[in-house]
This record gives sequence, structure tokens and C-alpha cells, in this order.
Amino acid sequence: MPLPKEIIHKIEKLRTEIGEHNYNYHILDTPTISDAEFDRLFRQLQDLEKQYPELITSDSPTQRVGMKPVYVFKEVKHEIPMLSLDNAFSDEEVLAFEKRIKDRLKNDSPIEFACEPKMDGVAVSIIYENGALVRAATRGDGYTGEDITLNVRTIRSILWNLHGKKHPKTLEVRGEVYMSKAGFTAMNDRARERGEKIFVNPRNAAAGSLRQLDSAITAQRPLQFFCYGVGVVEGQQLPDKQSTILQQMHEWGVRTNPESKVVQGAAGCLKFYNKMAEKREHLPYEIDGVVYKVDSLELQQQLGFVARAPRWAIAHKFPAQEETTQIESVEFQVGRTGTLTPVARLKPVFVGGVTVSNATLHNMDEIARKDVRVGDTVIVRRAGDVIPEVFAVILEKRPAQTKAIKLPTHCPVCHSDVVRVEGEAAARCSGGLFCAAQRKEAIKHFASRKALDITGLGDKIVEQLVDCDFIKSAADLYHLTVPQLADMERMGEKSAENLVAAIAKSKATTLPRFLYALGIREVGEATALALAQHFTNLEKIMQAGEEELQAVQDIGPVVAAQLVAFFHQEHNREVIQKLKKAGVHWPDIVSTGAAKPLAGQTFVITGTLDAMSRDEAAQHLQSLGAKVSSSVSPKTSYLIVGADAGSKLAKAEKLGVKILDEFGFLKLLEKYK
Ligand code: IVH
Repeated sequence: MPLPKEIIHKIEKLRTEIGEHNYNYHILDTPTISDAEFDRLFRQLQDLEKQYPELITSDSPTQRVGMKPVYVFKEVKHEIPMLSLDNAFSDEEVLAFEKRIKDRLKNDSPIEFACEPKMDGVAVSIIYENGALVRAATRGDGYTGEDITLNVRTIRSILWNLHGKKHPKTLEVRGEVYMSKAGFTAMNDRARERGEKIFVNPRNAAAGSLRQLDSAITAQRPLQFFCYGVGVVEGQQLPDKQSTILQQMHEWGVRTNPESKVVQGAAGCLKFYNKMAEKREHLPYEIDGVVYKVDSLELQQQLGFVARAPRWAIAHKFPAQEETTQIESVEFQVGRTGTLTPVARLKPVFVGGVTVSNATLHNMDEIARKDVRVGDTVIVRRAGDVIPEVFAVILEKRPAQTKAIKLPTHCPVCHSDVVRVEGEAAARCSGGLFCAAQRKEAIKHFASRKALDITGLGDKIVEQLVDCDFIKSAADLYHLTVPQLADMERMGEKSAENLVAAIAKSKATTLPRFLYALGIREVGEATALALAQHFTNLEKIMQAGEEELQAVQDIGPVVAAQLVAFFHQEHNREVIQKLKKAGVHWPDIVSTGAAKPLAGQTFVITGTLDAMSRDEAAQHLQSLGAKVSSSVSPKTSYLIVGADAGSKLAKAEKLGVKILDEFGFLKLLEKYK
């Protein structure tokens, strides 16, 4: 039967399209579609080729790994091809992967899998001869790559000479060069200041940095490396499992990912996936999924390869955090302090596991910086629990007719003038608590978990209560009655009773919570705590002048001025009075004179921590009374050591300073929190 013309045409179209995207992504480092969209096109082609195998050609993108390299670097032939991985996007596909393996091995006993994070970086091959780095290359099209030895030699986490002894005559280390999230942000900030090229994401930044002709430029880029396997090995037998090979690499000083783990069967793999999905946000680098590899090399050999990927491994991808869509319109939302935030209304897209139809544009400066217009095709990002944001514009897709985004002159809610303070990115509604939007946000904040924690007082109810004029300020919450609440939408008698009880319960609070709940600009949880501990009661804080306030740790002139201005306003004093009268109370902080648990101790933090940034770690320590310093001296009480610690660790060891690893540090925090 002749093949339908449309199918031939469709396949050709997909191949051309994928070819173009491959070129944009691998060669130009400037993708014009999201990874998810690319995966979809690729899958469509794979499916059609599966259905019509007679149409597979040797130059189909499904038969190749990437693109021919650019001409500027010397070509390098990979003795063992650097192949790719098949993808799985669901639990079912992982179960099917395990089943295929068992069927093929004709063996139903449990399979051990080495699970590893899938680093979102650039694959490289590094050859060591008798322990010395002699050549490094990119993957290129999998068969031929580019010689980037000089650039790779600038990466500090890659050794020029392996540690230990008895190295193979030839050892090809394979892994991923990547840029940490923090390194990427810092580099882009610098580039922006200098008017240089901004990278879309850490992976493109890593790729661009590795392809610099001038290795002095590469050397300034914050690149790192994790090994995930080996290629050519001559003159010595390595261990017989993926996991033990990586252990051996680690012993020779090759950096491997500490998150990797051996598990039993698909069930173990899925557990690892879920754990990494939870951890993802807090990891200092980007991953786009996890990789499962049959741990035994013997079984790997029995399983072999199909076309571009091994049968013994699969990449289980996370839901895409980036997608492309179009901006249909832009509206301005008014926040608690009157800030006007531009929000893009989007053609709905599925990203990060949910459908997104609104994304923040942050402020007018960001709109100008990214050059966003209504009608543009944009990349939308939703990382973890973070609010979706318009991340970048795909200028190539800009239609002829677009509309510039203008800041309104009047508040969209209360029509007061919009003001922009010089030097501040935010534009604000000048209506203050006259503005219903600001009132709503202030009350939502007052009731939020870290403030007075009123369970059941959701955003929608606050909005209704303000709209029907039942409440004007947080103090009015304490006079709400069950019949009033029971009349609200989505409320019944029972939930109204529960809510009144929750409001009553919130009356017993603490001074730091109360201070935070007031919603004073610049006063977050930490500042509220510091204020409460320093002054011990509210009256003293309300009476303090700017100078006295600045005596509190971490309070500078800006915060002090906001505090004074807030307590100076008659309206605010009145609300505080009403709240107290309604029965909101807290115990004064008793100043026992006892020092905080870590007072008098000095900490230094080095390397990358997994659970938090170094700044956050410092804040935790300071809140316990410790001093945090940037250099190790004989006076240092403890050095906290994260991954890739450098000279500070050596110095601390020399001075005999006590050393805490991340686990020990977290235990210490737990003890005092
Ligand atoms: S193993 C034959 N392990 O993903 C198996 N790859 O789609 C070769 N990648 O080109 C790859 N993390 O750049 C492997 N833990 C990991 C990985 C990983 C990231 C990248 C690598 C590869 C691509 C495959």
C-alpha cells in the first residue's frame, strides 16, 4: 500500500524543524523554543517513524545525537561514541523501562539501578593519560566533538593530575560541565552592568563559556563539573558496577554527585525521583530530571544499545519549568504597600505541573530590560513554588503589531495618583489605606501563617469582607459574627463558627508575630524578631527614635525611617489600640540577661551548602547570637564546610579550628531553634 503523502510531508517537516532547533540550541546556544516543546516534536517524529519504519533515513535527527560541531575548534573523534539517553515523562514509562529490561534479560529477579541527578549542563569527555589530563572535548554529534582542552583546564573542579595511585594508562572521564544557580545570577548581573550578552539559563551560560576561543574568558566563568561515567579505559580493569566506578573516580579526585544512590527496581527509582523533585529547588545547581542506569556492567553489556541510546539507562524528566506562550494583555495588581505589579495575562500553558495563565512581569524596569510587549511570544518559568514569571521574550517571534506596556497614571482600584520614587523600581498607588486593594492585602498579611496565623481566613473571604464593608482594618476582624460570616460565598454555619473561633484564638500571640503582622514596610520576620528582642515591649518600639532603632542589629536608616513613619501615623496607632482593646495580647519578652546560645562564638562558612545559601546560614547563626566572619583565624570557633571547600578548610585544619560539615551544622541549628 503506498504511503500517505501527508505522512511523508509531516515527517520531513518535523525533521527540518528539529534540525533548526538543534542548530539553535547546540551551536548558537540560543534556543527559540522550550525544551518541553522540543521533546514533543522529537517524540512526534519518533512515533511516526515507529509507525512507518520504512521512512527512517540515516540523517533523521532521531538517528543522530546532536549537530556537527562549529569549525573554530579542532575536531576530535570519540573512540567510543558519546550517546544520548531516552526520556521517560511518567511513572508508567519507568515501569515499562524496567519491564523491557527484565523481558530482554529473561530474568524476573530485582534489578539494581544507579540513580543520579540529570545535570542540566554540557557533556564533556576528559582524557587522562597515566593520571595526567591530556585532552578534553565536547560531545558534538556524539561521534565527533571539539577540542576544548584549554578551556576545561581552567575549571577548578577538574584536576590536572589525578589523586591517588595506580591510574589506568588511558582513562576517559565523562560528565557534565555546569554553572551553579548562584554563579549564573552573579555572572549575568555583571554582564548586564557592562552591557554584555545575557544568558537565558545556566546551561546556555555553561555552553557559551566552554566555547570561548579565549580560555582566559572561560577561566572567569563559574564553571563546575560532575562525572557520571567513563569512556575509554585502557591498561586496567575498573570496578564492575556504575556505582563503584563512580566511587573509584571520587577516590581519584574526580568530582561526582553526592546525591547519587543505588536502589532496587522501578519502585526504588520512583522514590528517588520524588525525593529529588522535592530537593530540586534547594540544590545549588539546575537539574532537569534524574537518570536511572542498570548498575551491573555485565547486565548493561547484555542489554546493549538501540540507535542513539542505551537500553540500560533512561532519563526521567521533571515537568518542564519553562514553556513558551503569548502575552494577551497586561494588568496591574496593587499590593499591600501599594506597589503596582504588572501581571501578564497569558494564553494558558502547562508548566511545572500546572496550567498557568498569569505571570508576573515584576516592575517597569524589568519590562524595559527584557523589552516585553503585549503580543510577544515569551518564555514563562515556574520553578517550584515560586510565582510564575515572564522570563524572556523570543524576539525572533515578535509579530508586526505589538503594544508597549505603559504604567497607569492612576491606581486601577481606587484611582489615586500613581507615584514612582526616584531610585526605586516600584511604582505605588498613593491611596494608602483608602485603597481597597491595599486594605485587603494588609488584612491578608495580618492573618497569614507567619503573622497571626488565622486558619480558614482565606484570600477570597478577606476580599468579600472588605468589599461588603464588614471590615476596614485588621482590628474589625475581632468583631465579626457567625451570622455575618455564614452569609459569605462558600461559607456555611459550621465554617463560620470555626472561623470565629480561629480569629478568637489568634488573640494570644507573640510580640515578634504582632510586629510582623502590622505589615510595616521593610519589616520582615527577622527584623520583627530583632526589634522584639532588643526592646522587649511594643511601647518602647513605638516611642523609639531613628537613632535608637539603628542600634538594633541589622536595622539601618531605611528600616528605621519606615518604622518611625509607621508609628507616627495616627491611623496606625489607632488600629494598634483597637487590636489591643479587642483582646490581642502577647507576653513581654523577659530580658533574662542570658546570652543567646551562640553568643561569643565566631563562625566561618565555606563551600556550597545544599540546604541553604551561605547568606541564609549566616542569618541563622546570627539570630542565635553568633558572629559570622569571612576569614579563618585562630579566633574562629567553627568552620562550616560545604561542597568544594577550598583554602579555608586547609587553613582551619592547620590552625586546629573545629570543623562542622553540613549535617553537623543542621544538627546544631536544630538543637537551638
Ligand atoms: S549518562 C549513554 N548521566 O544527559 C549514557 N547523562 O540525554 C550517557 N546528563 O549527553 C549519558 N546528567 O549530557 C548521564 N547523570 C547523568 C547525566 C547525563 C546529565 C546529560 C548528558 C547526556 C544527556 C543525555
